[in-house]
This record gives sequence, C-alpha cells and structure tokens, in this order.
Amino acid sequence: MKILLVGATGSIGEVAYEELKDDAEIIQASRNSSEYPVDITSEESIRALFEKVGQVDGIICAAGSAHFATVDELTPEQNMIAVNSKQLGQVNVVLIGLHYLRDNGSITLTTGVLMDDPLKTASSSAMANGGVSAFVKSAAIEMPRGIRINHVSPSMLEKSKEKYGKLFQGFEPVSSKRIGLAYRKSVFGAQTGQAYKVY
Ligand SMILES: NC(=O)c1ccc[n+]([C@@H]2O[C@H](COP(=O)([O-])OP(=O)(O)OC[C@H]3O[C@@H](n4cnc5c(N)ncnc54)[C@H](OP(=O)(O)O)[C@@H]3O)[C@@H](O)[C@H]2O)c1
Repeated sequence: MKILLVGATGSIGEVAYEELKDDAEIIQASRNSSEYPVDITSEESIRALFEKVGQVDGIICAAGSAHFATVDELTPEQNMIAVNSKQLGQVNVVLIGLHYLRDNGSITLTTGVLMDDPLKTASSSAMANGGVSAFVKSAAIEMPRGIRINHVSPSMLEKSKEKYGKLFQGFEPVSSKRIGLAYRKSVFGAQTGQAYKVY
C-alpha cells in the first residue's frame, strides 16, 4: 500500500507516519522536502507532486496554517492564510489527488478541536476546520470508485504542549498514540464521511 503524507515533517504528520510506517510505503511531502516538495496553497504545486508520485492507495494531509488574532484585530488578509492553506489547500489536495487515487483508496484530512471548543484568537483556524469538516461530510456521499474520505480532528498533541500550551489553557493534551490510531482507522478502516475527534 502506497500512501502520500503531506505535512510529514510536522508534529501531527510525524504521528501519522510513526503509526503507519510499518504497514505502508509512505511518501513524505512538505514545502521543504528535497524529494517531494509541495505547497498546498498552489494548485500547480499539488499537481506537480501527484505527477511525480503517481498512483497511490491513500492520501493524508496534515498540513495547514492559520493566523491567530482576535476578531477585532484579524485582517481579511490574515484570514486568507487559513482559507488558502488549511481550508482550500486541503480541499485542493482532494480535488486534484482524487484522480491519482486507486479504487477503494482513502483520503484523510486534518482539522482540529478549535472548531468545537473555541479559544480566543482562534476564529480563523476554527473557520477553516469547520469548512473542511463540512466538505468531508458532503464529499463522502459522492466519492467515486469506493474511495473513502474522513478527517482527524486532534486536540493539542502532548508533544505540542510547549508550543501551544499557553493558548490551550485547560485542554488535556492527547497522546501521539491516540491521534495516530485515528489516522490508522481512517486509512485501514471501512468508514467514510467521519470526523475522528481525538478530544
Ligand atoms: N499540533 C497540534 O497539537 C495540533 C492539534 C490540533 C490540530 N492540529 C492541526 O494539524 C495540522 C498540522 O499541525 P502541526 O502542529 O503538525 O504543524 P507543524 O508542526 O507546523 O507541521 C506542519 C507540516 O506541514 C508542512 N506544511 C506547512 N504548510 C504547508 C504547505 N502550505 N504546503 C505543504 N506543506 C506544508 C510543514 O512542512 P514545511 O514547513 O516543510 O512545509 C510540516 O511538515 C494543522 O492544521 C494544525 O492546525 C495540530
């Protein structure tokens, strides 16, 4: 089984990689990858990646940025970071990648707890998460050729506590294992249109 993992070098991407690496060939892509570079904010870049990788059995996207600022400070331009990256970037990985997915393949996107459990400064990220979540639910009912699509919505990863702990006051960090298993369920399970909420 060949799986393309976009965002492989990130905290969440590494969790997915560690969980799946013994059971699949994982192609690790990200902006700074020397072998499989991709910027999901660019359709051209996504197309070039799939042309290079060819047919796959699974696509995982664990990449996506957002600007954190209170709504009275957030500018339309800053908000577009999440729109172009976390939201449309992931959706474009689906729209383009679908044509490189083998029959009965799987797509797994990444959202996050902020769409369900609001934090100050997180509305742009929450917006993108909600958009991706709705897209997955809707797209699942018309995926062709037995292809499944789900998203994993992690809470703060234990390893990310130092980076995000100050922002996520009162959130219980979740283990790499629990988040990894959500990606495993999406890739190796039979469900589609699901939100795997690891809260
Ligand atoms: N960490 C957490 O606790 C947590 C919790 C809930 C949700 N999430 C969500 O999970 C996703 C990943 O978070 P993370 O903490 O793993 O982030 P991270 O550690 O910053 O890693 C992001 C990964 O994506 C790649 N990347 C970033 N922008 C990209 C782009 N435009 N095109 C292609 N690759 C790109 C990065 O590599 P390059 O820089 O080389 O491109 C890196 O591999 C985000 O959507 C985040 O909101 C994370």
